[in-house]
Amino acid sequence: MRILPLGLVVALTAGIYAIFIYLFGLSALNGKVRVSDEDVSALFALQAGFQKCVSANGLGLQALTGKDYCQVTIKFPSDTLPMWRDPKSGELEGLSFDFNLCEAVATWEQVRNSTTILTKEFIDALPNGWEEYAWRRINKGVLLNQCKNRTLCMEKLALVLPETPPLVPRQYGRCAVIGNSGDLLKTNFGEEIDNYDAVIRENGAPVQNYTKYVGKKCTFRLLNRGSAKALDKVAELDETGREVLIIKTTVHDIMSKMIREVPIHNPVYLMLGTSFGSAAKGTGLKALEFALSICESVDMYGFTVDPGYKEWTRYFSESRQGHTPLHGRAYYQMMECLGLIKIHSPMRADFSRVVNWVPSQSILRAARIASEKLLRRVGAGTMDPLGACSIIKKHDKGKTKVTGLRKAAIEHLKYVKGTTMYPLEHSLGDGMLCSIPGDLNS
Ligand SMILES: *[C@@H]1O[C@H](CO)[C@@H](O)[C@H](O)[C@H]1NC(C)=O
Ligand SMILES: *[C@@H]1O[C@H](CO)[C@@H](O)[C@H](O)[C@H]1NC(C)=O
Ligand SMILES: *[C@@H]1O[C@H](CO)[C@@H](O)[C@H](O)[C@H]1NC(C)=O
Repeated sequence: MRILPLGLVVALTAGIYAIFIYLFGLSALNGKVRVSDEDVSALFALQAGFQKCVSANGLGLQALTGKDYCQVTIKFPSDTLPMWRDPKSGELEGLSFDFNLCEAVATWEQVRNSTTILTKEFIDALPNGWEEYAWRRINKGVLLNQCKNRTLCMEKLALVLPETPPLVPRQYGRCAVIGNSGDLLKTNFGEEIDNYDAVIRENGAPVQNYTKYVGKKCTFRLLNRGSAKALDKVAELDETGREVLIIKTTVHDIMSKMIREVPIHNPVYLMLGTSFGSAAKGTGLKALEFALSICESVDMYGFTVDPGYKEWTRYFSESRQGHTPLHGRAYYQMMECLGLIKIHSPMRADFSRVVNWVPSQSILRAARIASEKLLRRVGAGTMDPLGACSIIKKHDKGKTKVTGLRKAAIEHLKYVKGTTMYPLEHSLGDGMLCSIPGDLNS
């Protein structure tokens, strides 16, 4: 009589083990980094909380779990009418999108501790930084020839390349990222938006004549290639001359010329972005990434395509082509349900709306550590704040200036021992490039 239950236990255990191996592969079990039972429960808890959160806040969106603990599918209600066609294939945008939650929790947490401004320090420390990376960020003239003449390359970048990052993680408290959606005209968000500590806008979005809807504060403006080429027009939108312009693309000769000759007094920097693969492109996401790297909390306005959308419009001009609006909307919902951002829209107009069922800080933390192990990230699961550093560069420029910084920013700097962390591209192993003060005794 005892044999049977025991056999059952053995069979069950073997079954569970087999599923486990199926899910994570043998190497995860035999490699240095072990995924523990705790890790698996953390990922379960994350998925469960996430599903509840999407149902509660997604205005009809549903999250379905996928074939393992990382995959989720976000689905729009079946009566949603997609309006966007792929210009190449002519196909309408789909109504369901797959996302990898593990990659999202691990990568976005890294963004929060790193800098997204390109610096000279970064290029100097990166192996072949000038020949490969810097060259790609400059309008690639034949003359530049992979930056063989480094002096010339440095000259080209000089106008937009600070020695060290001008901003640090958590420097700002509450930030708002403002998209350009025509939705913004349905609600008077202006006053609310102006109350944030920092406001990030995009491309040529005007505030004049629209302040009732979009506010007038603009601390940062993120620019794509087209807007960066018309830098003088963009600078005109800002009467203060203090707005910081962040360019997410390459530097153009036209642009450098304008900075010198017009001249443009606003600080201008290049963005050094994390790679999110094909999951997320576009200026909206880059603006969120930038905001999350310098702000304690991030709210977004003017990005949504809530149920009932007719077309993708801009608040200041006729409708335009745009791209994959439903995909973007689903991705932002994922970010909201990972506790990264809060979405405001005409259909979520209550400022004090609480995002219900966001997984708790402890679940998110445990799931992030589990994900780092699964994804075999550098330094996964260590308690060392510099564990993710795969390239370390000591500098002797002294400690980062801490006067006038918010308490949260100072605490963060203490935690990372004054280190500046830069994201690295996937080919370099997903670690970070870390610039450490030389006098650090450890
Ligand atoms: C490199 O560029 C600098 C600055 O434009 C120029 O003065 C110098 O002659 C160039 N050197 C070579 C070897 O072409
Ligand atoms: C605001 O409106 C005025 C009057 O219609 C117009 O001349 C001006 O160009 C507008 N400004 C912007 C930034 O659209
Ligand atoms: C980011 O920094 C905070 C402290 O400010 C720390 O608690 C957290 O673990 C860090 N995250 C990563 C991925 O290193």
